[in-house]
Amino acid sequence: MSRARTRIGVLISGSGTNLQALLDRAADGTIPGEVALVLSNKEDAHGLERARKAGAPTAVVRHKDFPTREAFDARLVEALRGARVDLVCLAGFMRVLTPAFIRAFEGRILNIHPALLPAFPGVHAQKQAFDYGVRWTGATVHFVDEGTDTGPIVLQAAVPVLPEDDLERLSARILAEEHRIYPEAVRLFCEGRLRIEGRKVRILE
Ligand code: GRF
Repeated sequence: MSRARTRIGVLISGSGTNLQALLDRAADGTIPGEVALVLSNKEDAHGLERARKAGAPTAVVRHKDFPTREAFDARLVEALRGARVDLVCLAGFMRVLTPAFIRAFEGRILNIHPALLPAFPGVHAQKQAFDYGVRWTGATVHFVDEGTDTGPIVLQAAVPVLPEDDLERLSARILAEEHRIYPEAVRLFCEGRLRIEGRKVRILE
C-alpha cells in the first residue's frame, strides 16, 4: 500500500535557503512529499523566486495588511487549508504564530532554529552563541508549540566554534547543517515515523 504524498506548506520571510533544501529533496524523491504552498509575509522575499523556479505554488500574505495577529494568522490558516497542507514548515518565518494557528495544525508544525536548543532561543541565535563564547553550537529541528523555540526536539546537529571564527563563518557552518537536518526531519515526518510523546519525539524504525 503506498502512502499519499505529504503536502508541505513552507512559511518564509527572506532568503529561503532552507526552503531550497526542502524543494531539492522533494524534487529528488528523498522527501516523499511535495511543497504544495510557499507562503511569505513579504512580497520581496527571495525565497518566492526559489519557489517559482521549482514550480511550487506561492502566496503572499502581508502581515501589515491585517489589524491583529489573529486576523493575519486566520488568513494564513485559510491559505494553508486551501492548499490541503498536511505539514507546515517554518523556514526563516519572522512572525510569532498565535495559539489559534498552532491549534489548527497541532503536532504538524516544524521549525528550524540556528542553535542547540534550549540554548539561545529567539532571534540572532548565532550571535548569541558567538558572543557567549560557547565551544559548540548548532541547529535544531523541533515541533512548534505555543512557546518561543520550546517545542519537542526532532533532530539536532552540533557545530564547533573555531578560534578563527567570526560570526559570518560560524553562521555559514550552522546553515550547512540546517540544510542537512531539516530535510531529514521532514522526510521522517512524511514517512510517518515521528511520534510526539510529551516533551520527547520518538523516531520509529
Ligand atoms: C535560518 O538560520 C533558520 O535557522 C532561521 O532563519 C534562517 C532562515 O534562513 N529560523 P533561510 O531563509 O532559510 O536562508
